[in-house]
Amino acid sequence: MGQVHSEILPGRVQSSNMSDYTQAVANFKWEDVERNFSWYDTGKVNMAHEAVDRHVQEGRGAATALLYSDAVRDESYTFADLQERSNRFGNVLRKYGIGKGDRVFIFMPRQPELYFSLLGILKIGAIAGPLFEAFMETAVKDRLEDSGAVALVTTPELLHRVKREELPNLRHIFLVGGTTDIEQGNLGFTEEMANASSELELEWLDLDDGLIMHYTSGSTGKPKGVYHVQRAMIQHYYTGRVVLDLRPDDIYWCTADPGWVTGTSYGIFSPWLNGVTNVVRGGRFSPQDWYKTIERNKVSIWYSAPTAFRMLMGAGESSIQGIDLSSLRHVLSVGEPLNPEVVRWGDKFYNQRIHDTWWMTETGAQLICNYPGMDIKPGSMGRPLPGIEAAILDDRGNVLPPFSMGNLAIRTPWPSMMNSIWNNKAKYEEYFRIPGWYISGDSAYMDDDGYFWFQGRIDDVINSSGERIGPFEVESKLVEHPAVAEAGVIGKPDLVRGEIIKAFISLREGYTPTAALKEEIAAFVKAGLSAHAAPREIEFKDKLPKTRSGKIMRRVLKAWELHLPTGDLSTIED
Ligand code: WT7
Repeated sequence: MGQVHSEILPGRVQSSNMSDYTQAVANFKWEDVERNFSWYDTGKVNMAHEAVDRHVQEGRGAATALLYSDAVRDESYTFADLQERSNRFGNVLRKYGIGKGDRVFIFMPRQPELYFSLLGILKIGAIAGPLFEAFMETAVKDRLEDSGAVALVTTPELLHRVKREELPNLRHIFLVGGTTDIEQGNLGFTEEMANASSELELEWLDLDDGLIMHYTSGSTGKPKGVYHVQRAMIQHYYTGRVVLDLRPDDIYWCTADPGWVTGTSYGIFSPWLNGVTNVVRGGRFSPQDWYKTIERNKVSIWYSAPTAFRMLMGAGESSIQGIDLSSLRHVLSVGEPLNPEVVRWGDKFYNQRIHDTWWMTETGAQLICNYPGMDIKPGSMGRPLPGIEAAILDDRGNVLPPFSMGNLAIRTPWPSMMNSIWNNKAKYEEYFRIPGWYISGDSAYMDDDGYFWFQGRIDDVINSSGERIGPFEVESKLVEHPAVAEAGVIGKPDLVRGEIIKAFISLREGYTPTAALKEEIAAFVKAGLSAHAAPREIEFKDKLPKTRSGKIMRRVLKAWELHLPTGDLSTIED
């Protein structure tokens, strides 16, 4: 077992030269990546071991693992500190009878305790379920209920959004910044940690044992619990090396929240498997704050999202004046199409070519990327990584030639591919309806250099500021409002956010369509689901277009909105 960085990793493509790429693809073997893990020799698997304990064992315990700051806190933790904190939390969980396979959720802002508890959960073989702090009552309840979570780590401020009386499986609530109150069933995180031992016997697992769950939206039904297993670490580590280009001295900053997959795969696992310093900045987005975070921490690798880059662009040149961004050596983006203007902005003001990467919650890690050294075509997502085969398929599963638009599909399996959708086999199988392939739901084409170009979603999933929103979840909430008879929700193109949520609503008898009512309805969704799920635009209609079976035709709503032809209306109601 060598040093994390001692071996040359396969799959690294040094230049834009097509023959370099072809050679890397031909020589690639996942097994060469697997050799870098301690379990390759021992057969004993645990993500938290590879990401934390192993560094301590191999003499890197004093290296900085986490640089955390927000408006009030400014803290730094070594790998040895992470080991100690996560051991304690693992012991706390065991004390309450929690163990392998149990789902333990975390619902709190990005603070060091979030990271300690997540690692502690993994140490005892439990499955972590991080929830974005902006989720409101219904969103929190749906996820805790579906997963059957037995414990939750949260804060006193967020506790009122947890309907514990409706969640019989939820036995323990740990309050970060709160105290133990047996009567209420709350346990103080700090007290529990102080009383727990810092020594822990790790739960050794197999590659197919559970790791983490992330809920994500489709176009129908409630959010799906995308379930990932330990094996994903192979790809988290690999892409950290060949796409993020992490090297031992890097200071890396991923701006995503662990409530979303980017914030765990690339905000926790990838950097720590690679042993680099991970920056976490708490609090809300502000251009000044973000640039200062790069300057102050000397961030060398920065992974963010188009919506953030567009907001930084919107803040203009003056927001960069006097700030030293020269520590940056590699900048990447994910979540939505990266506009060529943004790439040009990066060239000019960060002196960095922003590298777009494509993947999804379900894929667990990056698949199609612009890797370092590659000739970037602004607007393209890049090429499949060595080890990954991507193609454009028609609906019957035929591989289409270059420049034909179709279903973006990936050859199955790959290490970080989701293992299942929690409690929903049918939803899982929909992705694999064409034998041998995973159907992403995105449409794209490939050019004759093998670069992939994103075209849109095939379903009605909305992507607003890089956050994926299912229209059905929003519609279901809307019709709970007493004034709303029917609702149809679409994504409306927006320059900064990519898309915004627009709701078409027909009112019940006796309600008058006013601006005040629009605000009230938007606030209702915000309070029930989350701010990012609330419609920014509402339009009242006497009637909504429906199929004869009563399904609202979002396609027609979208055509109205964009002033496009409505297409085939043969299934419309009247
Ligand atoms: C959907 C997945 C895991 C990354 C965070 C989002 C869109 C993602 C790109 C890109 C164009 C992109 C796709 C995809 N998307 N990356 N580089 N260019 N679109 O994860 O919430 O699971 O959403 O985001 O539509 O299917 P997610």
